[in-house]
Amino acid sequence: MEIQLWRELLEPYQLAVDELMVKFEYLIKAHRNAGKYSPIEEVNGRVKKISSILEKMQKKKIQFEDIEKKIEDIAGIRIICQFVEDIYTVVDIIKNRSDMTVKAEKDYINNTKPSGYRSYHLIVYYDVMTLTGTKRINVEIQIRTLAMNFWATIEHSLQYKYRQNMPPHIRERLSGAAAAVIALDKEMSSVRSEIMDSQNSFQIKAHVVAEILNTIQNLYNVANKREIVKIQDEFYKIYKLDDIDVLEKFSKELDIIAEGYRAQGMENYE
Ligand code: GTP
Ligand code: MG
Repeated sequence: MEIQLWRELLEPYQLAVDELMVKFEYLIKAHRNAGKYSPIEEVNGRVKKISSILEKMQKKKIQFEDIEKKIEDIAGIRIICQFVEDIYTVVDIIKNRSDMTVKAEKDYINNTKPSGYRSYHLIVYYDVMTLTGTKRINVEIQIRTLAMNFWATIEHSLQYKYRQNMPPHIRERLSGAAAAVIALDKEMSSVRSEIMDSQNSFQIKAHVVAEILNTIQNLYNVANKREIVKIQDEFYKIYKLDDIDVLEKFSKELDIIAEGYRAQGMENYE
């Protein structure tokens, strides 16, 4: 196969990765904009390097013409979550989408691999529109917690360093670290509701503050400056109280003031 053909082969996979990144990043943003907790913390994507494809072909005795059928992770998406529970929420979200169809799934969370590796894997069918029409391709989606990702990243570099010959004492320490990851994720899950409460109130506060500052900015164009200064001083005083209810009340009062100015403005609109 020539280098030119590789580019043609990989192009739809790059398109799929780009599209899916936009879609999953949108999910993060949409949750946060709605003041909700996002089950997805972070998303990454990549197209498999030609060298890695060649390596896999050799290892699994795959012919060139079978690449697209037999190598299911040419397009790869990695979704990182805060909590183990979030992983299953994300799996459900993916299963309910109409733009991807689950072809296979592997639960390496309840079935840890001998290496200690844990993650939830989905192979999904995803359609991309190419110059020559619709093309259905395989995409591998790996879903894991921050802690699982930490372990997998380190283990992967060590695997790479030692190739087939990882010294037993390193293996053992990785096993120990894998057990620690399980314990850490468990511990985090047990304080989950508290973490989520604090994240949530942090988000609500950020949202209210942004709204207040936006209203003040709008008032700046219509109200008299002395009043704006008064409102601003009042805001800083209230902000220091660190009480979300008081902030929300202040925001509503500001809205009423702004509404008054808007009504005045309309009266002049003849
Ligand atoms: P391969 O991709 O050849 O492994 O095919 P497979 O059918 O065995 O898929 P599997 O679900 O085992 O692994 C798919 C991907 O998960 C790999 O390409 C890695 O990215 C990741 N993975 C699987 N096992 C391990 C592991 O022990 N350590 C690390 N760091 N990653 C792993
Ligand atoms: Mg494997």
